[in-house]
Amino acid sequence: MRSPLTNPFQAGSDVVPDVWAGRTEQLSDWHQVLRPRRRAGLYETGRTILGEPGTGKSSLVRRIARDAAEVGDWVTPQLRMPTGADPLKIIASAVLRLADGAGLRASTRRGVLDLLARVEQVAVTGFSVTTRGADGPEPFTALFELLVELGQAAIEQDAVVVIHVDEVQNIGDEAALSQLLIALGDTLSHEVEVAVPGGGTVSRHLPVAVYLTGLPDFEDMAGARKGATFARRFRTTTLGPLDEGDILEALQPFVIAGWETPGEHGVVETVRMDPAAARAIAALSCGEPFLFQLAGQRAWNVGTAPVVSEDDVVAGWRGAEGEASAHVERILNRLPPREHEFLRAMASLPPAERTLNAIAEAMGLASGAQLGPTSQRLDTVRGVVSRGKPYAFRNRAVEAYLTTDWPRTA
Ligand SMILES: Nc1ncnc2c1ncn2[C@@H]1O[C@H](COP(=O)(O)OP(=O)(O)OP(=O)(O)O)[C@@H](O)[C@H]1O
Ligand SMILES: [Mg+2]
Repeated sequence: MRSPLTNPFQAGSDVVPDVWAGRTEQLSDWHQVLRPRRRAGLYETGRTILGEPGTGKSSLVRRIARDAAEVGDWVTPQLRMPTGADPLKIIASAVLRLADGAGLRASTRRGVLDLLARVEQVAVTGFSVTTRGADGPEPFTALFELLVELGQAAIEQDAVVVIHVDEVQNIGDEAALSQLLIALGDTLSHEVEVAVPGGGTVSRHLPVAVYLTGLPDFEDMAGARKGATFARRFRTTTLGPLDEGDILEALQPFVIAGWETPGEHGVVETVRMDPAAARAIAALSCGEPFLFQLAGQRAWNVGTAPVVSEDDVVAGWRGAEGEASAHVERILNRLPPREHEFLRAMASLPPAERTLNAIAEAMGLASGAQLGPTSQRLDTVRGVVSRGKPYAFRNRAVEAYLTTDWPRTA
């Protein structure tokens, strides 16, 4: 039955959405590369996934973590870094919980109980001023050592440890950030000796995978702050918008078979969607995962008929226009003034004339050379434009907002 209660679209929540679109490259990186390689003892870097607000960074890694948990891997929850909080406390607590789950407390290996006690202490005091100056091993060393123990246990139980640190751009303390990245990076590159059938030992890497997610601002935190190990041990991907094709594919189950919902008296009822409605959702949401969920959610809630129509999509969207504008404004208003001006100047030109020099001229500058770093950041760091010939908007919602009446519909 079609009702708000059975609505499968989830706008703006931190749970993995039921109606999933695209990101096949990143999912197959996990399933085909990262997991199998780390599980086999081979080296793979950590993954850093950055993107503008609402591009689906958290959802993507939660989906990966869910897939991992389903096959028995040991995954942390989404470890969000609140501004100003001590990252070490949060991560130490999460790793302790995994260690408990792995049965490390019953371990007969030398020093493990002592190590657990040390990390427990870290989970309480964190990377505090007192421990920083104190004698004895750094708190991050204890975390690293515990991760190594956890990795060893994972080898024995044939599981992969998945650590997900979210909102990494909020880690403001330079020393804490660099130490955290070193502890995680050292875990990734650490090798242990394992016995092989027939006698003898070989060295292998630990079955540990690390995902860092957050806003592109993380990229700005100067290289030195993150340390040289960061660049070598983590590979950064910037998430852009979804393709229209991905969105249509995600809606295809509604169009063809219908989406199953619980009906009255325990019977399953299906809700279908007109192909025109699916196309309207894809067009209005401009590839933004958040707007995709929003458009779908509103269209569903507009009526109770078993088929979602194009009119439902349009009527639902009308009530969501404010949120759609706010979404794009959140992206634009976070930009440094120069980048914001760049986008406005670019939008003021006809698509075929969007060259760097023409954009510079529209901004009252002498030459495009002055905009080199700005345009580069908008492309590689933010994924908002692509610097082809001519320049084009990759973020289609930003383009629609700056060049048309969108999100208003006629
Ligand atoms: N692949 C996807 N398919 C469908 N919907 C998605 C997908 N990824 C994310 N979403 C939806 O988009 C919205 C934003 O996702 P999410 O919170 O993961 O983004 P984020 O990049 O982590 O945002 P923020 O920067 O605000 O933390 C959510 O409503 C989520 O359900
Ligand atoms: Mg997020």
